[in-house]
Amino acid sequence: MSNIKIRPFVEGQDESIYIDIMNRAMKELPDFTPMTLADAEMEKNAPNSDKRGRFFAEWNENPVGFIYAYLDTQRQDKLGYMDGPYIVPELRRKHIGTTLAETAIQNFKDRGINKFESTARNTNVPAQKFLEKFGFRMYRVFSRMKRSLSDLPENVGENKDIKIVDIGTGDEALKIENALINEAMKDHFNFRPTTLEETKYYTREQEKQGVKYNDFLAFINIVPVGIMITVIDPREIEHQKKNIAWLAVLGVLKPHRSKGIGKALMIHAMKFLEEQGMDEVMLGVDDTNITNAMKIYESLGFEVTLKYFRYIKEL
Ligand SMILES: CC(C)(COP(=O)(O)OP(=O)(O)OC[C@H]1O[C@@H](n2cnc3c(N)ncnc32)[C@H](O)[C@@H]1OP(=O)(O)O)[C@@H](O)C(=O)NCCC(=O)NCCS
Repeated sequence: MSNIKIRPFVEGQDESIYIDIMNRAMKELPDFTPMTLADAEMEKNAPNSDKRGRFFAEWNENPVGFIYAYLDTQRQDKLGYMDGPYIVPELRRKHIGTTLAETAIQNFKDRGINKFESTARNTNVPAQKFLEKFGFRMYRVFSRMKRSLSDLPENVGENKDIKIVDIGTGDEALKIENALINEAMKDHFNFRPTTLEETKYYTREQEKQGVKYNDFLAFINIVPVGIMITVIDPREIEHQKKNIAWLAVLGVLKPHRSKGIGKALMIHAMKFLEEQGMDEVMLGVDDTNITNAMKIYESLGFEVTLKYFRYIKEL
């Protein structure tokens, strides 16, 4: 008889088990910041949360694995996302992941979701092999890039005519942020507009946990034409024992591209982070981004530290 049993996640009861499994399964990643119950709460109450599709695998009655067959409820196109499986290290290669993935795929099928994505890092060969075994194909590559905040670039083609203002993260600022980002990102891979409710929700929830956001707007006269959001997460800094921050979002409106506005926003934001005592900054980028953003980042001294392979499976 198999030792593996699958059971659904029960809301209000299983959050701490979920956190425990995630933290054990992800511990080996050098940059993983442990999750807390507050993170689980935030996921649960999020405007785009999906209450279905979450399962545990138990091994001899003990929960040892988790998977989430997720459907972004705000998307029109029914594109699912298989988040996991996550198996505690000591019980790998016993087909627990396989049983969870089969459960997730069946769950997608039952809900009429015939297309779903997943992700594996370039350093995570087991995850790549695992996804390939289930018929996923890699179809997009993303990079994480990093740069030290010393020797910041200057006179590298940044626009010097625009005015850059830190507009804070009040309700009015978030409204502008939301509209600008949706407009700047609309041609991007897998885009779906972020609702104002989501922008407010995630910003406020993270702020409650001590995360510091700054919204920088680029103005031509009084018209905002670009945005850069910086993020400083004290939990990450504490866990990694490094003063590290994020350039989270950069967006320049289409008619104003190729005029050095993105570069100016990047340099301005990096100076700000350096003044905040940060030593390094990271960002994420789609390698085949239609605006060739990676080239701008390279020209500003960023280097790739990690790749994320995005996979898709169509039934
Ligand atoms: C990837 C992971 C989920 C696999 O779970 P698992 O229970 O160990 O996997 P299974 O025993 O069901 O293996 C299924 C298949 O995956 C592949 N695979 C799993 N681990 C592998 C490894 N270390 N090396 C190569 N292939 C591996 C094999 O094709 C295997 O089939 P086989 O046993 O018939 O050869 C597990 O390693 C894990 O939790 N990793 C950390 C979290 C993570 O990266 N999740 C993946 C998100 S996509």
